[in-house]
Amino acid sequence: MDVSEALLYIFSGTGNTRAVGEWCRRFFCRQGIGSRSVMIDRAEPGKQIKPCDTLFMGILFPAHGFLPPWSVIKFLFGLPRIRGVNAFCLATRGGLRFGPVPIPGAAGFGPFLAALVLGFKGYRVRGVFSLDMPSNFINFHWGLHSKNVDDISQKARKRLGRTMALLISGKRIWWTRNNLWEAVWALGMFWAIPLFPIFYLIFGRLFMAKMMFSSERCVGCGICAGACPNRAIIMKDAGGMKRPFWSRHCETCMRCMGYCPKGAVEAGHAWAVLLYFIVSVPIAAGIMAMLSNRVAGFPVVQHDGALELINVVYFYPALLLAYWAFWHSLRIPLVRRMFTLTTLTHYYRRYHHPEISRKHLAPGRIRKRAR
Ligand SMILES: Cc1cc2nc3c(=O)[nH]c(=O)nc-3n(C[C@H](O)[C@H](O)[C@H](O)COP(=O)(O)O)c2cc1C
Ligand code: SF4
Ligand code: SF4
Repeated sequence: MDVSEALLYIFSGTGNTRAVGEWCRRFFCRQGIGSRSVMIDRAEPGKQIKPCDTLFMGILFPAHGFLPPWSVIKFLFGLPRIRGVNAFCLATRGGLRFGPVPIPGAAGFGPFLAALVLGFKGYRVRGVFSLDMPSNFINFHWGLHSKNVDDISQKARKRLGRTMALLISGKRIWWTRNNLWEAVWALGMFWAIPLFPIFYLIFGRLFMAKMMFSSERCVGCGICAGACPNRAIIMKDAGGMKRPFWSRHCETCMRCMGYCPKGAVEAGHAWAVLLYFIVSVPIAAGIMAMLSNRVAGFPVVQHDGALELINVVYFYPALLLAYWAFWHSLRIPLVRRMFTLTTLTHYYRRYHHPEISRKHLAPGRIRKRAR
């Protein structure tokens, strides 16, 4: 394949995908091909992508709930329609290691969905693949030990080199064991929990965002707010100092948790249990019971479907209101201490990729979002 320039669009929460983008860039450099990396949150694809059949475009993102993150999906749909530009899609996924045993992650639909959207837009997708990088799911597990981080990263780097060499030699990367693994996960997931990724996008993502709070270690420096790729953190007055408030724009990329210099960002586990009961079935069942007592004819529609419908309508306002009340209750030192001590993240090791500092990920110009 004739490549004169590579253009890499990258989204990264804790630096894994940013590190992979940098390895890609160095690979192109060694081949004598000029390349440019652009973080998706400051990309201007309309100006940057030119119709040219020697341009090679890469879309690099972490798997989030077997899909690309929501901001990447929006970015893909916003790309200009251009015929003939060659492209590839690369998802990083969460690899783990227990002693010598590696546990691969699964990006599921992620890379295929990205390829599908690019295909519809007229791009010539040459291949899709995924790479295990150290899992950054640190709201649910302990950050990996540095030795495991190094081992997983080394392996990924070698695999990346081999795959990129195949791609620019003109080979297409579709029918591989790796993509079969992803397809099995995508189909298996679809079969086990139909529409799981859609539920994750609509409900799971927001629920996880609303688990976040800052512990008493927080000094109100605002670094988390400045680093967020989605401008999702608002620094609000809270008892004489500013503290971060996680808005609904958060997509739990884990950057704030991974890079907070004080290790103060927590995902509240005890709070999540409480929140689950607030936003789910028991409350909806209560509303159903109340309606059936007060509204004539209501029992006629009292079945599972109606309960689900009430849950869906009730979910968002209940979640937003409950988080608002929770956040304000954290002004009371005893309450903050109680929620801090009852979350596992308080005891977990944090994670961000060792080669990537906060500056490598820093958003460019600040886009003001109307609130
Ligand atoms: C909210 C969230 C969802 C995730 N979902 C998946 C997943 O579905 N499959 C997977 O293999 N890894 C998953 N991971 C792990 C990340 O995809 C993986 O660690 C990735 O390399 C992180 O890249 P980044 O540091 O560039 O953000 C998830 C991580 C987070 C924070
Ligand atoms: S959570 Fe961390 S980064 Fe954010 S304001 Fe507090 S100390 Fe600063
Ligand atoms: S608030 Fe934190 S976890 Fe959410 S999108 Fe911003 S940096 Fe990522």
